Amino acid sequence: MVLFKASLLLSGLALAHAGPGKSPNIEWGACNKTEVNTSLPMDCSNLHVPLDYTDSRSNKTLRLELARLPASENPSKGSILFNFGGPGIPGRSSLVALASLLQALTGGQYDLIAFDPRGTGNTLPFTCYDNDLEVLAMMDEQILANASDTTMGRLWARASVDAQACFSKANETGSLIGTAFGARDLMSVVDALDEDGMLRYWGLSYGTTLGATVAAMFPDRIDKMILDGVQNPHEYYHAYADFEEWTMSDKVFSGIFSGCVAAPENCALAHGNKTAAELEQVVWDMIDAVKYRPIPLGGGLLDYSASKQVMAQHLYSTSGWPDLAVMLDAMLSGNPQESGPEPDAGVYIDGKLQNSVQLMATMGIHCADRKLRTSSFDEIMPAMNQLLNISRVMGDVTTGMSMACAQWKIEPKERYEGDFQVKTKNPVLFIGNTYDGHTPIISARNVSSGFEGSVVLEVNGYGHCSVALPSKCTLKTVSEYWLKGTLPEPGKVCGVDAPPYSNVTWADVIGEASGNNTSCLLKREVYNVPSLHNLGRRLI
Ligand SMILES: *[C@@H]1O[C@H](CO)[C@@H](O)[C@H](O)[C@H]1NC(C)=O
Ligand SMILES: *[C@@H]1O[C@H](CO)[C@@H](O)[C@H](O)[C@H]1NC(C)=O
Ligand SMILES: *[C@@H]1O[C@H](CO)[C@@H](O)[C@H](O)[C@H]1NC(C)=O
Ligand SMILES: *[C@@H]1O[C@H](CO)[C@@H](O)[C@H](O)[C@H]1NC(C)=O
Ligand SMILES: *[C@@H]1O[C@H](CO)[C@@H](O)[C@H](O)[C@H]1NC(C)=O
Ligand SMILES: *[C@@H]1O[C@H](CO)[C@@H](O)[C@H](O)[C@H]1NC(C)=O
Ligand SMILES: *[C@@H]1O[C@H](CO)[C@@H](O)[C@H](O)[C@H]1NC(C)=O
Ligand SMILES: *[C@@H]1O[C@H](CO)[C@@H](O)[C@H](O)[C@H]1NC(C)=O
Ligand SMILES: *[C@@H]1O[C@H](CO)[C@@H](O)[C@H](O)[C@H]1NC(C)=O
Ligand SMILES: *[C@@H]1O[C@H](CO)[C@@H](O)[C@H](O)[C@H]1NC(C)=O
Ligand SMILES: *[C@@H]1O[C@H](CO)[C@@H](O)[C@H](O)[C@H]1NC(C)=O
Repeated sequence: MVLFKASLLLSGLALAHAGPGKSPNIEWGACNKTEVNTSLPMDCSNLHVPLDYTDSRSNKTLRLELARLPASENPSKGSILFNFGGPGIPGRSSLVALASLLQALTGGQYDLIAFDPRGTGNTLPFTCYDNDLEVLAMMDEQILANASDTTMGRLWARASVDAQACFSKANETGSLIGTAFGARDLMSVVDALDEDGMLRYWGLSYGTTLGATVAAMFPDRIDKMILDGVQNPHEYYHAYADFEEWTMSDKVFSGIFSGCVAAPENCALAHGNKTAAELEQVVWDMIDAVKYRPIPLGGGLLDYSASKQVMAQHLYSTSGWPDLAVMLDAMLSGNPQESGPEPDAGVYIDGKLQNSVQLMATMGIHCADRKLRTSSFDEIMPAMNQLLNISRVMGDVTTGMSMACAQWKIEPKERYEGDFQVKTKNPVLFIGNTYDGHTPIISARNVSSGFEGSVVLEVNGYGHCSVALPSKCTLKTVSEYWLKGTLPEPGKVCGVDAPPYSNVTWADVIGEASGNNTSCLLKREVYNVPSLHNLGRRLI
């Protein structure tokens, strides 16, 4: 394992007019191979949408770059739009990574479309620092709050510096990238597609906040919608922090160890006869030890923040648990490995430090959306202590982001101000995993209770969003929703076919479900789904 500079995980998208039929139609052509590099038959297009939906006098536009995987069956039943979370995860590369799986889950009869949301990728990228030294100064301070008793104060001061820099350098961009405009962009794409004028949408993680928002703003234009790995949008907009997101995190963390003792043949930590609780305690003790005595490793430091970030990243999916167990076992026996989960800081793409790109996008969108602000450290501290109290593993990972949002100075041009009591034209399907360390199922129930006619599907496994959990039942339930509009009966729970520390993948599940019907079978390797954090390198 190598040190990586902390990636700040974050939990973590009034109305003008977006009338149908006004946008120019979309012409699909070859993708730029540098940006959308895949062996799948994807095509691409550009769509110009209003830069500022609140300024009807302006003719300034923003270019959305769309990527599409056409339906495998003819004729297509229409298009499904996606958002993969963050906020701030780029859309096109995420669609490329997940396209085969999503095609199976949607029954093969829809075109799948994604674009980089405002603030990300090529779409109005949000950044507050012009040079790498400033970026590195910011990234260096991304320490987890409980690293020492001086950290909270530092994080607060740093967040103030960042909020000020963002305001001076990116006030205008920052005002144009919130979730309400993101919702209007989705509807602009629907208009330009010129199908039936209705939105079909699948939002993951933060994409559920975007989805709930677009549904609340345009309830009559919702055909089918899946909100999967649901954030509590009330907290997203109106609280000092996303508290509820972390209510299951410690249970998922414990699952790493209970899964280990249940499948000792596949878990490197399981030698000896420790119980799951004892194994977990040993790891906590190790994290506490490196807090006071960091270990030099691979040219960097394995310290409290770095080791906890590793744990945090393994809450997304069980697929990395066997490797994590190997890594922890090596560390505990005094031989920490220098290879392991790739550090994600310090990676340059197109001359930009990737870590900061994602962090800036997340901050730019979430902080603009967040209405509750304060300049008082004393006022924010109870909320930060509450975060730490909610989850030992995740509570102090997002304090820095919450503090930046509290001191944010940029106002979005538009913010959804409603209460998420919504009657959509067609019912929404919510999905929550029983053990989701980022978006607990109680949040799915919370939002569903305000969405008339909606149903919550529970998937009984560990991981973030249903795509993390190979399940025949999910495959059947979800594809039937897309193909026939059928909702599962309320209370339905899907089992998972890939227990922790097994090597079962979506490829196995889909292969089995489709028998040898080769028209449905795609290459096995394309179903080896990256977990969402590998897509975005940051929280969702
Ligand atoms: C393709 O994308 C790359 C990276 O963004 C860009 O540098 C290049 O100019 C693009 N090529 C075309 C033909 O647009
Ligand atoms: C596309 O991906 C392949 C395999 O990952 C890689 O070898 C190739 O260089 C990539 N092409 C471009 C234009 O980035
Ligand atoms: C945009 O508006 C300006 C001023 O009203 C006008 O001069 C310009 O031609 C317009 N541009 C387009 C592309 O319509
Ligand atoms: C910040 O941007 C908003 C919207 O573009 C603008 O109204 C405001 O004047 C700007 N404030 C400053 C201080 O630049
Ligand atoms: C198993 O646990 C018992 C009691 O906790 C201990 O005495 C024994 O040495 C352990 N055996 C191994 C192989 O670790
Ligand atoms: C922490 O949680 C416990 C139990 O849920 C509660 O009693 C206590 O008041 C909380 N403390 C803070 C600082 O929120
Ligand atoms: C914070 O650190 C202290 C001392 O290392 C530890 O006892 C406590 O459990 C930690 N709390 C959290 C929420 O990490
Ligand atoms: C949903 O969550 C919000 C924010 O925590 C809370 O105020 C509200 O009471 C919840 N609604 C339901 C129905 O649980
Ligand atoms: C999956 O795991 C089983 C049992 O642990 C093993 O026999 C099999 O070879 C593994 N398959 C792959 C593809 O790794
Ligand atoms: C289809 O699958 C069944 C059961 O797996 C197998 O017996 C049969 O030979 C397969 N048929 C073809 C044409 O592959
Ligand atoms: C095989 O796929 C075709 C085309 O999707 C479908 O019509 C047919 O029902 C499938 N057969 C089975 C046995 O699943």
